[in-house]
Formats: sequence, structure tokens, C-alpha cells
Amino acid sequence: DRAVGVGLLGFGTVGGGVVEIIERHQQELQHKVGCPVEVKKVLVRDKKKDRSIVIDEHLLTEQADEVISSPDVDIVMEVMGGIEETKKLLIKALNNKKHIVTANKDLMALHGAELLQLASDKGCDLFYEASVAGGIPILKGLSDGLSADRITKMMGIVNGTTNYILTKMSHEGRSYDEVLQQAQELGFAESDPTADVEGLDAARKMAILATLGFSSKVELDDVSVKGISNVSDADLYYSHQLGYTMKLIGLAKRDEGRIEISVQPTLLPHQHPLSSVHNEYNAVYVYGEAVGETMFYGPGAGALPTATAAMSDLVQVIRNMRLGVNGKSVQGPLTKSVLKDDQE
Ligand code: NDP
Ligand code: HSE
Repeated sequence: DRAVGVGLLGFGTVGGGVVEIIERHQQELQHKVGCPVEVKKVLVRDKKKDRSIVIDEHLLTEQADEVISSPDVDIVMEVMGGIEETKKLLIKALNNKKHIVTANKDLMALHGAELLQLASDKGCDLFYEASVAGGIPILKGLSDGLSADRITKMMGIVNGTTNYILTKMSHEGRSYDEVLQQAQELGFAESDPTADVEGLDAARKMAILATLGFSSKVELDDVSVKGISNVSDADLYYSHQLGYTMKLIGLAKRDEGRIEISVQPTLLPHQHPLSSVHNEYNAVYVYGEAVGETMFYGPGAGALPTATAAMSDLVQVIRNMRLGVNGKSVQGPLTKSVLKDDQE
């Protein structure tokens, strides 16, 4: 069978993980999708940069068109970040009939509905499992596993960087600045970590989760947000002494049609299961009327966990290609906004 061509937009933490998995798991992948998977072109900012993952230098380009307009590329994996310029690239890729896999919650929280609609119009897939909670398959859990239930509440830790910082400050007494720098070096933090520490990254993820879980278009402005940048060593010390663990908790609930979403530092009793979620790990409780309480847990950031989620989307796209059903299994929101309707 002909190889499926993959074009990467970005070759940093997540892009490097994707290339590593495509190489290391090639046999496994071929077995699962029935054809080879080949990286054809990779967009970077600077071709000359030293890189930890080895790649044929002829694959690297600084011209986005060489990826999104290449006839060799069937699927574009967007792992570069950014919002408006990246949106334009993805629109162009969709107009070129490329399927999209993205890890970009900033983009999907703001423009997901529009991009999903365009993908569907073009008969293309657009999947974004890696955008929320790294390696945890929570979007597929909501859109597949729990699709027949009525989700009423989701609560958990959805940002790896802040959980890493709070864990290391509380357990090892290390300083905020030192641990933030380490989270950046480990590839957990965003290129500008303000979005992590001010809670915006978690807010974007909660907006995506609520949109999918509650089948309603939730806007980012609907999320009330407070981050951890003002949390002091003393706050953590005294809350620990009093029997509490501080976590940055995202909460989304709906009650009689009203949806409330927040992200804020929250004190949990030490024995609460979310208190035992350490370092970059994430965990989300999902409550459904029929299923009751479920918990999704795993690594929420980092190269290989996040790349695993993106690769699961890639496998889905290829399976859809073989069945000729691309653009028909949209993992997306309804356009109607329950929140807005209820407030009007
Ligand atoms: P990195 O900063 O490590 O990598 C970004 C890559 O994109 C680099 O290769 C960079 O090129 C390239 N790039 C960025 N902007 C441009 C541009 N304008 N033109 C050309 N190339 C560009 O980011 P991450 O891998 O950490 O994150 C990528 C995406 O994945 C983001 O949307 C992030 O939010 C998301 N994500 C990240 C997770 C993580 O744990 N890191 C987890 C889940 C999602 P160059 O190498 O030359 O600098
Ligand atoms: N910066 C993000 C985090 C990456 O720390 O959770 C994963 O989305």
C-alpha cells in the first residue's frame, strides 16, 4: 500500500516526539493502519538550530507552503503553537484538502468551531486530542466512550506546568522561579509560560472540555480564571500544616441549562485523590448522569505523552482515509450556545 504522507508544522517538544514515535513504532503503525507512515516535510523557524532529535535535514523547511501545499502530504500535524497566523495556515491546508491533527488548545478554544466546520465542508478530518491533558485520551473518552451519557460536571488538574511547580514547591521547598525554569527546560511549559501560570492554558482546556462534554459552544470569556503566580511559599506551608494541598483546579458544571466554568488555586484535603496527582500529571473527574463518576489520569505534558495523543489522531485519520469517511466523524461542538441562550 502507498505510504501516507505526514507534514509537520513545528519540530519542538511535541513535533520531536511525533517523529520519534513514527520511527520507533513504524511496524506497529503499519500493522494498525495497513500502510507505511512517512514524514515528508517539517516546518521550523530556523533550519540551522541544533536539535536533540535527529532528522534528515532535507525534510526541514522554513516555508510553510512546502508543507501545506505539498502533493506528498496527506495529513498536516500542527505542533508549532500560535493563533492567528497558524489559523491561516490551517485554513489554507484545509482548502488544499489536507487532514489536520493539532495539539493547539489556544487555537481550538478560540477558533475550533470555525475550523471544524471548514474541515467538515472540505471532507477533511480535524482532530485535537493532544490539546487537552497531554497523553490522557480524554477528548475521545468524552466524544466516544461517554457519548451516550449526559455529562453534568468535570473537575480536575489540566495544566502540567503549574502542577509541577506546586508539587516541587510544596514537597521539596524549592522556589517558584527555579521550578518554573525547570518546567520550561523539561518542555512542559508554553513558549511564553504566562499562559500556564496565570491559568489561561487551563481555561482554554476547560473551555474545550466543556464544549465537548456539554455539547455546547463555550467561549473562553465564559471561564473565570485565576492562576498561581501569586501563590507564596508561606501559603503552601500553612495550608499543608492545616491538612490541605493546593492545586490549580478547573471546574465545569451545568445545572438546569446554566454552565459555570472556573480555574483557580484550590485547597483540597490531603486525602482527596486530586491531592495525590503530582508533577506534570493531570487528572480529571467526569460525572455523567448514567455512568456516575469516572476519573481520567496520566501525564499531562511532555514530548512522548503528548505525541502519543497526536499520533492516536493520526491513526484515526488514516483509518478514515481507508474507509473513505473523512470529515464525517467530527470531534466537535454543536454550534448552539446553551450558555448564551440561557442568559438571553
Ligand atoms: P516548541 O516551542 O517546543 O516547538 C515549536 C516548534 O514550532 C519549533 O520547532 C519551532 O521552530 C516551530 N515554530 C514555531 N513558530 C513557528 C513559525 N512561526 N514558523 C515556523 N516554525 C515555527 O513547542 P511545543 O512542542 O512545546 O508545543 C507545540 C504545540 O503543542 C503548542 O500549541 C502547545 O501548546 C502544544 N502542546 C504542548 C505540550 C507540551 O507538553 N509541550 C502538550 C500539549 C500541547 P524552531 O524549532 O526552529 O524554533
Ligand atoms: N503547557 C501545557 C501544560 C502543556 O503545562 O499543561 C500541555 O498542554
